[in-house]
Amino acid sequence: MRLPSFFLAVAGLLPAVTAQSALNFTAFTHLNSSYTVGNGSFSVGVGKIDITPEPNPQWLPLNEYAFERIYVRAIVWESAGVYGAIINCEAATAADQVYTYGNKYVADLLNTSTSNVLFGFTHAHGAGPAGNVSALSYGGGGINGYENIGLAGLAAAKIALTNMKPAKVGYNNGTALFGVNSCHINQLTGRWTQATNTSGPVDHSVQVLSFVGRDDGIPIATYTSYAMHPVNSYLSGYTNGDWPGAMMRWIEQSFDDRDDFVAVMSLSASADVNPLARRTSANSLAAQQDIPINGLERTQEPVEEPLRDGYVRMKIPQVKYSRQLLDVLQAMGILLGEETIRLMSTTQEWHSNPTVYSRQALTTCPGRVRLDDAREGVPGVYTTGGTENLIRTGILAFDDIILACVGSGIYTDIGYAIKGNSTMPKTMVVAMINGQTASGYLVAANSWEQETFQALNAKIAPGPCGQQNVSLPLGAMIAHYKQTYLS
Ligand SMILES: *[C@@H]1O[C@H](CO)[C@@H](O)[C@H](O)[C@H]1NC(C)=O
Ligand SMILES: *[C@@H]1O[C@H](CO)[C@@H](O)[C@H](O)[C@H]1NC(C)=O
Ligand SMILES: *[C@@H]1O[C@H](CO)[C@@H](O)[C@H](O)[C@H]1NC(C)=O
Ligand SMILES: *[C@@H]1O[C@H](CO)[C@@H](O)[C@H](O)[C@H]1NC(C)=O
Ligand SMILES: *[C@@H]1O[C@H](CO)[C@@H](O)[C@H](O)[C@H]1NC(C)=O
Ligand SMILES: *[C@@H]1O[C@H](CO)[C@@H](O)[C@H](O)[C@H]1NC(C)=O
Ligand SMILES: *[C@@H]1O[C@H](CO)[C@@H](O)[C@H](O)[C@H]1NC(C)=O
Ligand SMILES: *[C@@H]1O[C@H](CO)[C@@H](O)[C@H](O)[C@H]1NC(C)=O
Ligand SMILES: *[C@@H]1O[C@H](CO)[C@@H](O)[C@H](O)[C@H]1NC(C)=O
Repeated sequence: MRLPSFFLAVAGLLPAVTAQSALNFTAFTHLNSSYTVGNGSFSVGVGKIDITPEPNPQWLPLNEYAFERIYVRAIVWESAGVYGAIINCEAATAADQVYTYGNKYVADLLNTSTSNVLFGFTHAHGAGPAGNVSALSYGGGGINGYENIGLAGLAAAKIALTNMKPAKVGYNNGTALFGVNSCHINQLTGRWTQATNTSGPVDHSVQVLSFVGRDDGIPIATYTSYAMHPVNSYLSGYTNGDWPGAMMRWIEQSFDDRDDFVAVMSLSASADVNPLARRTSANSLAAQQDIPINGLERTQEPVEEPLRDGYVRMKIPQVKYSRQLLDVLQAMGILLGEETIRLMSTTQEWHSNPTVYSRQALTTCPGRVRLDDAREGVPGVYTTGGTENLIRTGILAFDDIILACVGSGIYTDIGYAIKGNSTMPKTMVVAMINGQTASGYLVAANSWEQETFQALNAKIAPGPCGQQNVSLPLGAMIAHYKQTYLS
């Protein structure tokens, strides 16, 4: 390790950070790491498990859209006898232990370091049993006979092991303008609420990691990272994978729905980013409450709150409004899928014998306890001394391509801080991997005054810790990898 030059290099990028100890690579709790020099054997296989819940007889699916079925997908790689996997679940999220167990089941299957496994979620808000409010909330979702979603991930990884083939890996990035900042000051009340803010921060990058056949170039898997909450189908009553599901299925269908190809969508920094197109989402909720719909866009919150908080029971809306909602998800999915396929098709640099490196770190931030329960628009009331928040970060590198992973949903500016603190240009930000902070979301250092539910409910004391204790260890891990193993 050549720490002194690393300090100089990173310190130069970080004038704002005063605590030098925060930059010390060894200051962060090291969980696990793995380093593999290729021997020409790099290979990749994929698997997919259907986890769609049984139809609710009182609220049948439309059965018109491919993304009404939801899946757990696996991309398994092997290099010189060392294995690893990317597992992705179509559900909102799960308890921290579910991530940990899911990761461990797969690491044990593959006899590999836990740092070589990324177990993550799309955060799709509609991926629960149809018409069931409680199951639609976080942690719900289909598992279709598996005891937990981690075991579905294990089953997907087992399938992947049966179709491993020689592969090469590449990275490309592009842009899509579907997301918009969602922390907004209501002009009538002067209060913060969740609504479109066209001047707030948002990262429109589409980052794509692709695996294709080493000799034939035939696609094996794509892994796309994009920053936008999959919230439009929340409380819609129809089980579906939201726009990530539509996107993954579109790409898979574009490659003839082969069993030996999967498309995976992973969230980038999107805690404060929603789709710009929310009209049909709000209308589908209004339609459940017989609120007149004139076709124009309405604000989501007033029609969402009664259903979310259970003042009004969910009921099947006129089907045309549900179709309009799913049509918009399909449209976003198709266009994001097309951008992914364009980026796959134009990837310039491929590695058929990559150096593979992974490392995980655990950091902490002080907690706080909330004493009131307003959703948004007012300052929260807190005491200090809540449980310390554990934050998992990690990197998985294929040569010069870095997946920078965070075990939480993160704000836009944290994603920018990760990219800014990375010394490698091909750094993909992927959130909701291998853990779920007690905090729920990690709020950017400068976003605490935005009184939306993500910031108000965060179980972390306000301040820069969440942002620093994600972006600095990731920056340190990336710099360490680059200096020690790539130079
Ligand atoms: C980094 O942290 C380790 C452990 O906390 C300590 O031993 C070492 O002296 C620190 N290095 C620097 C350059 O501060
Ligand atoms: C690479 O290493 C693995 C594990 O030792 C071995 O099984 C394999 O035959 C090797 N492949 C090549 C091309 O050397
Ligand atoms: C893991 O180790 C077990 C026991 O040695 C072996 O049967 C299995 O094939 C190994 N799995 C992989 C993916 O190498
Ligand atoms: C690190 O990985 C090894 C397998 O290589 C595993 O046995 C161990 O539990 C992991 N440790 C942690 C802290 O995750
Ligand atoms: C709704 O979901 C909850 C939590 O998963 C479950 O306990 C309950 O049985 C479900 N109700 C119906 C009607 O499906
Ligand atoms: C939009 O977001 C920016 C940056 O967070 C904030 O300064 C501004 O007040 C917000 N504007 C509105 C209308 O909410
Ligand atoms: C960041 O995490 C490290 C490792 O757990 C911890 O020592 C440090 O105090 C944390 N930073 C802050 C500001 O709490
Ligand atoms: C590096 O991270 C720190 C802490 O999150 C942040 O303040 C700073 O802006 C980041 N640097 C860059 C160049 O993005
Ligand atoms: C795309 O990646 C290149 C480096 O490979 C970088 O220079 C560029 O800024 C990236 N663009 C986006 C939109 O992320």
